[in-house]
Formats: sequence, structure tokens, C-alpha cells
Amino acid sequence: MTTAEEQQGSHRVRRVVCPGSFDPVTNGHLDIISRAAGLYDEVIVAVLINVTKHSLFTVDERVEMLSQVTSNFGNVKIERFHGLLVDFCAANGISAVIKGLRAVSDFEYEMQMAQMNYRMAKVETLFMTTNPLYSFLSSSLVKEITRYGGDVSGLVPAIVLSRLRERPAEE
Ligand code: PNS
Repeated sequence: MTTAEEQQGSHRVRRVVCPGSFDPVTNGHLDIISRAAGLYDEVIVAVLINVTKHSLFTVDERVEMLSQVTSNFGNVKIERFHGLLVDFCAANGISAVIKGLRAVSDFEYEMQMAQMNYRMAKVETLFMTTNPLYSFLSSSLVKEITRYGGDVSGLVPAIVLSRLRERPAEE
């Protein structure tokens, strides 16, 4: 059986971007990235370089951890970007963004960004429902729990867990 694209003789690469701060990457992020990798030819994980936001890990560290935890996927690439996501999309031939939705509380802001990105540059946003195992999980909570000596094993990849444990607690 041939697909519509094959019938048209098209070799278009189905590429999607999964943007975020990833400070640090959690098992929830990884779940979305791995499922997206099963659906698309190429998944670009784009790490936001946000100079104003205080982050625990540098962009280099975040990129390095993401590269390690996605190294088993042949079609996942880790990039960094600053400025508008739609400009990154235009520069990289990407027409769609994929986002995980954990709960209704995520929806309002995500919908606003999705509609704005479409309004600005016709960039589509696709929402993937988070695995219920991780619907309560966020990088912010991981950092807060770690800061006060709590255990986040099972919620982040092993490499991230050891990086968090190495990091001195911040106030
Ligand atoms: O992991 P985060 O911090 O929730 O990710 C948010 C992110 C990076 C996806 C969002 O802040 C973003 O796209 N920033 C880039 C700047 C931009 O394009 N802003 C306009 C959005 S309509």
C-alpha cells in the first residue's frame, strides 16, 4: 500500500519541533519525545536560551543531558534557540510544534501560544496527552524537591538524577 505522499512522488520530511526549557529534562518530556519520534521522521528538541529566566542548569548542560537520554533515537536532534519559536521553525523548515498536555491547567496558556504561533507564521501546534504516570510532573517541582533533599528517582532519567545530586542545594 502506498501513502498519498508516495503517490504524489513527494519526499517531504515530516519534521516536528518539541520546544521547552528542559531545566532539566524529566521522564514526562522523554515520554512525549519518544512518542513523537514514533510519529515523525524527525523530531527537533529545541532548548530555549532564556537569558532573563534563572535556570538551574546551563543551556549546554541541558543540551548535553537531552543528547544523552535521546541517543537511542535515530531521528531525534537536540538544538538550542533564542527569540521566537516561529523564527526557529522558519529557519529549520519546521511547520509544526508538538507539546505535551498534562492537565486542563496547561491548556489555557498552551492554546494561547498555539493560536499566536499560527497567527504569526501559520505554524501548527499538536497536543499530545501526557502519560498519566507523569501528569503531575514538572521540572520546577523536580528542582524544588531536590533542593530540600527529596527523592525524584523514577521521575527523571538516571543521568539527570545524578546531576541533580551533584548540584549543591540552592536557596
Ligand atoms: O518548558 P517551557 O518553559 O514551558 O517552554 C516554553 C516555550 C519555550 C515553549 C515558550 O516559552 C516559547 O516558545 N518561547 C519562545 C519565545 C516565543 O516564541 N514566544 C511567543 C510564544 S506565542
